[in-house]
Amino acid sequence: MPNACKLAAGNWKMNGLRADLLEARALARAFPSPGCGILLCPPATLIAGMAEALRGSALMVGGQDCHARESGAHTGDISARMLADAGARHVILGHSERRADHGESSAEVAAKAHAAHGAGLVAIICLGETEAERDAGRTLDVVLGQLQDSLPQGAGAANTVIAYEPVWAIGTGRTPTRDQIAEVHDALRDAVPDKAMSLLYGGSVKPGNAAEIFAIANVDGALVGGASLKASDFGAIITALDAA
Ligand code: PGA
Repeated sequence: MPNACKLAAGNWKMNGLRADLLEARALARAFPSPGCGILLCPPATLIAGMAEALRGSALMVGGQDCHARESGAHTGDISARMLADAGARHVILGHSERRADHGESSAEVAAKAHAAHGAGLVAIICLGETEAERDAGRTLDVVLGQLQDSLPQGAGAANTVIAYEPVWAIGTGRTPTRDQIAEVHDALRDAVPDKAMSLLYGGSVKPGNAAEIFAIANVDGALVGGASLKASDFGAIITALDAA
């Protein structure tokens, strides 16, 4: 079975001004030839500037969402082609904050991922259960259901990455146990159509817990929020992934 690529992806969410491109430059200097993929997904306003700042480095830039259509009357939205034109190689889709704040369904996520693929972008599709769903014993049902409904036709390791992010672990400092992560990642590996697809864990990944998380089978990297904003913290997580 081909090995999945290791990826450390940073999700800056609605954080970052032009001055913060310094953090991206520092990271690029620290990892001239990393043993894993390194991706930063800043807010849309910084994509072109970050791509420019990272030109010639090993680091990649991504978006945090895209519209399912290529262009048209969709005020405030951004198409996958626009992201690619600005220098993005990836786009995060179906993050739980978008599913919650913008009512995004898995069917919409699949349509967006289809558009991302059409524009040559790698779609990072996010899945995860709420605390109530976990307490009700529904974690695998929810996550595997989201996977099935969010993956577009033609999704494979070359154009799609899956991120398992329990909603209750995002930005809370709480992380699942080793066994809880392993259970979901093992089930995802069984369920994905292409066994070489990278499976990321996300939710309160920090320098202090990264090595332990990356030691879990079927965890190929992380989608990191808060700890990706500072080059020193994200750098420590990348170092842990490199060593895993
Ligand atoms: P966090 O966010 O690392 O700040 O918990 C992760 C995410 O939402 O992708």
